[in-house]
Amino acid sequence: MGAMAANARRLIWAAGLVAAAGVGLWATSRGSPSLPDDQNHAVSQAEAKCLGCHARTAGFPRPADHPLRDDCFSCHRDARGRLRPRPGAPTSLPGGWRDDPVLAGRAAAKGGRE
Ligand code: HEC
Ligand code: HEC
Repeated sequence: MGAMAANARRLIWAAGLVAAAGVGLWATSRGSPSLPDDQNHAVSQAEAKCLGCHARTAGFPRPADHPLRDDCFSCHRDARGRLRPRPGAPTSLPGGWRDDPVLAGRAAAKGGRE
């Protein structure tokens, strides 16, 4: 193998490494934490169940900078890192962000309800 070919192969290898690192960064930087690995977070349950613990008035409310949507499974991956979006899941549920003064206030501040 000539020096040129060896260099070209090294270049391709390096490009592959950079691409893999980039994909990893992209996947983790999008910011939606994965679901904890426990029964409370089984992906088979309805989003309304999630709000039983994560609504504003529940024990573990979502942070004030949370996205204005209630279709949890569109963003939060399961404990294995798999995204399992539910087709047609409503983006706004009773007890969800629209009933949360902080989150709803953010929507108003952004101009209009989403
Ligand atoms: C019985 C109460 C309960 C239910 C039901 C519940 N959660 Fe949680 N959730 C918690 C608690 C407590 C924590 C924080 C402690 C932990 O990490 O286990 C948490 C953590 C989380 C986190 C953050 C994980 C992290 O690493 O920061 C996400 C995201 C989340 N829940 C989403 C959901 C979704 C989506 C559902 C519905 C499938 C749901 N939760 C159902 C109690 C609940
Ligand atoms: C549009 C995407 C999206 C949807 C839909 C969504 N989330 Fe989140 N969630 C995020 C992002 C991004 C974060 C991290 C940013 C933040 O903390 O505000 C987050 C953070 C959280 C946290 C806090 C984790 C922690 O460690 O503080 C909880 C709990 C949570 N989400 C629960 C839910 C539940 C329950 C639903 C459905 C009712 C839901 N999320 C729907 C994107 C989403």
